[in-house]
Amino acid sequence: MNLRKTIDDRITAALAGAGVSGAPALVGPAGNPKFGDYQANGVMAAAKAAKANPRELAGKVLANLDLSDLAEKVEIAGPGFINVTLKGEFLTREVEKMGGDEGLGVAKPQAAARVVVDYSSPNLAKEMHVGHLRSTIIGDALVRVLRFAGHTVIAQNHVGDWGTQFGMLIAQLVETGGDKAANIDDLEEFYRQAKKRFDAEPAFADKARDYVVKLQGGDPAVKALWQTFNAVSLEHCERVYQRLGTLLSRENVRGESAYNDLLPAVVADLKKAGLLTESQGAQCVFLEEFKNAEGEPLPVIVQKTDGGYLYATTDLAGMRYRAGELKADRVLYVTDSRQGLHFQQVFAVARKAGFVGAGVSLEHVPFGMMMGADNRPFKTRDGGTVKLMDLLEEAQKRAAELIAAKNPELPDAQRAEISRVVGIGAVKYADLAQNRASDYVFSWEKMLSLEGNTAPYMQYAYARVRSIFRKAEDIGTLTDMTHPSIRLDEPAERALGLRLLQFAEAIETVVSECLPNNLCAYLYDLARSFTTFYETCPVLKAEPGLRQSRLALSDLTARTIRKGLELLGIETVEQM
Ligand code: ARG
Repeated sequence: MNLRKTIDDRITAALAGAGVSGAPALVGPAGNPKFGDYQANGVMAAAKAAKANPRELAGKVLANLDLSDLAEKVEIAGPGFINVTLKGEFLTREVEKMGGDEGLGVAKPQAAARVVVDYSSPNLAKEMHVGHLRSTIIGDALVRVLRFAGHTVIAQNHVGDWGTQFGMLIAQLVETGGDKAANIDDLEEFYRQAKKRFDAEPAFADKARDYVVKLQGGDPAVKALWQTFNAVSLEHCERVYQRLGTLLSRENVRGESAYNDLLPAVVADLKKAGLLTESQGAQCVFLEEFKNAEGEPLPVIVQKTDGGYLYATTDLAGMRYRAGELKADRVLYVTDSRQGLHFQQVFAVARKAGFVGAGVSLEHVPFGMMMGADNRPFKTRDGGTVKLMDLLEEAQKRAAELIAAKNPELPDAQRAEISRVVGIGAVKYADLAQNRASDYVFSWEKMLSLEGNTAPYMQYAYARVRSIFRKAEDIGTLTDMTHPSIRLDEPAERALGLRLLQFAEAIETVVSECLPNNLCAYLYDLARSFTTFYETCPVLKAEPGLRQSRLALSDLTARTIRKGLELLGIETVEQM
């Protein structure tokens, strides 16, 4: 059960009962636990809108509100806050239910949505860079959370596998001996050399252009070369995916080229809809809502003077496909925030043209840049792009040092495995724990710290709870955890129980706002509530009934942390 939402729904209904309909109750966790568990802040705004006295309105709300099944106290405070304190019995029963629930209290939605998540989406002409790393990590977490919450998710890797630069790459491929994958071992270098020749050698440039024409014309030999190049490039990406442990596979690849044949129809239909304007030879859509600093409307160019199509044209075709063929209710685009205007524009054009109906939600899920310690875009020491494989390699190496210092007795193989899980987890968690909209500073020290909201801290918290069970097993006290009888008499037990129940709320906010940092913050709070509990409530030394309850709370904490991390794409280990 989503506690916050349940209370919010009831107070919102009571507001309507008190004569102010349409005003939200705005229920959130209480600012200060002294005053209760949840607090409604919406009465003041509702009173203002209805020109009523807020405290009086709050009184009327209370008269219309029945929370007796779950609350022991409902009070008006200050100018018109409503504070709710939950009943111990109710919390106890809910925690018991959560203990027996695979879904850990996350209810399936009444109607599952079909959600397309467009993420990772690197350009195959070049090596994947840190922007794609962020997209991959964030997108993958969203896919996992949405699926767990009961939605149908279609992951789409919208790779950049089309465009004029492929002519140059094919020319280079042919000149370096054809189709041997080994030639493209270093994609970045391969691209650089092709570009250098393209700029310096007119004959090479002519060949490159000729390949573009042939590729667009469907010449089988050129197409085969193009496919070879893309296959090799995609394998590069897949090595990164595998190392990261992401869900993406070949089946999720639907690149720009897949929409190629649909582009003429996109332009023709925009024309039919009366949306096209020719500007300096190019076909453009001008929308009133997008203007530059001088107040002139900004164009969305869909076809260049030479007949070529653009990134936006492909996205329009893609939206039509996702809404029409994939029957999406929601489409998420996980890219860096610099593409914000692009998405606003193509979303607006797609709606105007009727490519995407009003029932489909189009959402750009932007993220900020990854910065180095110097607060400048993340680069190697000599200013080059950081190879993602090297980055992940280094993460593991640094994690190995951490683990060796922390637990030198572990056998080598186990330590290597822990280092992998901690190193990769650290890179992912550092990215996910930040509000994605802001830039974030990449810092090995911070992400591998055992203190604070980090992967090692969370993974260690999990391993620590599990160690209680290894001990419990030793002394023969471990029993069935699925139908525990819970007691929440101590304040720290009650606080932990309530925190556990809030897992469903954390999941819900990730689903609705696409902000995985809410889940990270929740897990961190949970781990801290557990620490307080463990410091004040003896587990193994308690009398048998209480011991079972406390073991069950510990078990549920471990399961919730493990599940939460799993939903972020992060593994756990039993021992660290
Ligand atoms: N390939 C693009 C890039 O590297 C990202 C594509 C995002 N998806 C989309 N449908 N436009 O910037």
